[in-house]
Amino acid sequence: MAFKVLISDPLSEDGIQPLREAGNVEVDVNTSLSPDELAEIIGEYDALLVRSQTKVTRDIISQATNLKIIGRAGVGVDNIDLSAATEYGVIVVNAPDGNTNSAAEHTVAMLMSLARKIPQAYLALKNGKWDRKTHVGVELKGKTLGVIGMGRIGAEVAARAKGQRMNVIAYDPFLTKERADKLGVDFGSVEDVVVAADFITVHTPLIKETTHLLNKDAFSKMKEGVRIINCARGGIIDEEALYDAIQSGKVAGAALDVFEEEPATDHRLLELPEVIATPHLGASTVEAQENVAIDVSHDVVRYLTEGVAKNP
Ligand code: NAD
Ligand code: MLT
Repeated sequence: MAFKVLISDPLSEDGIQPLREAGNVEVDVNTSLSPDELAEIIGEYDALLVRSQTKVTRDIISQATNLKIIGRAGVGVDNIDLSAATEYGVIVVNAPDGNTNSAAEHTVAMLMSLARKIPQAYLALKNGKWDRKTHVGVELKGKTLGVIGMGRIGAEVAARAKGQRMNVIAYDPFLTKERADKLGVDFGSVEDVVVAADFITVHTPLIKETTHLLNKDAFSKMKEGVRIINCARGGIIDEEALYDAIQSGKVAGAALDVFEEEPATDHRLLELPEVIATPHLGASTVEAQENVAIDVSHDVVRYLTEGVAKNP
């Protein structure tokens, strides 16, 4: 019997070869479905593969009468209603480490661009302005980077920041002294991190405990002129509080790859010259997209044919 797999977000063609080569899997790629259209056809499929654009809601899952597995080609599963999936007996798998390196590199690119105002200077020069006064930056060497969330990406960012001769202080509920020592970083509470840091970067999942982790209260404890980076998830930082903290001068700049609502083409944070931004590009490299698609494709084939998955 052939299994039917629907891919509803753009995934690397090379990465989905394991599905095409499985022999007993029929693959449909349709990346322009509205939520209603997806709900209408999902009943035909045994597996659904998504990135972050498709919102796999309770409504869609409830109509997915044949669905056995949802594969997320990436880390965050916050676009999938996990309790509905559990309730309807649908397993959810992700690709936990295929994009770690790309996301860490993007974070470092944002950190350096923020420090040296490269996007603002680029924009001015493209508009014919040779302005060297406005775009004076700050050095990273000797500054303290606060890392909140020392998982795969946070740890990679910390290692790279040390290469820039920064000091690193981290918070993660699972970070032990032994691991912090091994990584060569200081560690403390969220408050210790926000008080000590010149730059703060967040690398947690978006869950109840991390929603608005950086809020008005946290901003009030930070150093004057602190700079903020979010290449993890919109919602970890309270965007209203960030806006106010930039307007008041408390925060000197922010680099954002992610937003509470995406796409964020019309966001008031984007009106501020202190804010630099990319449209959720952390994992958008050829390598990462191939890695994550390969990982979930293998897991989907494994689960459909053998009933086991590596990354549930
Ligand atoms: P990970 O699971 O390896 O690490 C997450 C870490 O956050 C864990 O160590 C965990 O202990 C920690 N954590 C959990 N609750 C916390 C809390 N309350 N306070 C502080 N830390 C807490 O995940 P990862 O691969 O490092 O990914 C981190 C984030 O980056 C996720 O939100 C993921 O979706 C996002 N991400 C974004 C992009 C992008 O394109 N911008 C790409 C990849 C990953
Ligand atoms: C992730 O959580 O892996 C990221 O959001 C990457 C993505 O799929 O764009």
